[in-house]
Amino acid sequence: MKAPIDFRMMGEKDLKAFSEIRNLSREWLHDTNEYSLKETTEWWHDNEENGEGPCYWVITYFGDVIGYFRVDIVDEYPMATTDDDIMIGADLHPTFRGKGIAKSLYPEFIRFLIRAFDFQNFYLRVKSHNIRAGKLYVSLGFKQIESPNDRDDILMLMTQEEFRDIYG
Ligand SMILES: CC(C)(COP(=O)(O)OP(=O)(O)OC[C@H]1O[C@@H](n2cnc3c(N)ncnc32)[C@H](O)[C@@H]1OP(=O)(O)O)[C@@H](O)C(=O)NCCC(=O)NCCS
Repeated sequence: MKAPIDFRMMGEKDLKAFSEIRNLSREWLHDTNEYSLKETTEWWHDNEENGEGPCYWVITYFGDVIGYFRVDIVDEYPMATTDDDIMIGADLHPTFRGKGIAKSLYPEFIRFLIRAFDFQNFYLRVKSHNIRAGKLYVSLGFKQIESPNDRDDILMLMTQEEFRDIYG
């Protein structure tokens, strides 16, 4: 039987739901612009053609898309030196926020990324006024490694070793 909450790699058929959730989340994003489905689809195709941009996994509830994880290779942060260092993030549809979904799914997703790609360092950026997300990341085991910068966001990190210490 399919788990009620699950994740899978995002495909073109998911772009409508992705675009809607992304626009509903934009006050918490670094790029707060709203994008139409047409713009999102063009961006998706450009990324596919160039082999660039982040990878996305959609989060599903009984098969319906309710959010997504974003994964991007980074090389510009204090400890980021190789392709083993990634920036992650997630956004959920407002209806599904505050129900413990991210708290239970993040460890599962990070474990999947370790098994599949052996990533070593998991970074994320959060706006300092995003209390819910900040609390979530601390409770998951992420540590703040940079103070709020001029974009008012905080850089956090959890290493693979720290993840294994907490989650086994
Ligand atoms: C951030 C987000 C992914 C978190 O997912 P979620 O499933 O809502 O989070 P959870 O329900 O698992 O809650 C995580 C923690 O936040 C806390 N929390 C939940 N709702 C909260 C609220 N309304 N206010 C403050 N804290 C809250 C909980 O205490 C929980 O920690 P705890 O279980 O240790 O007590 C989701 O809320 C979301 O998409 N928000 C809008 C977009 C966004 O902020 N994206 C992240 C950008 S960095």
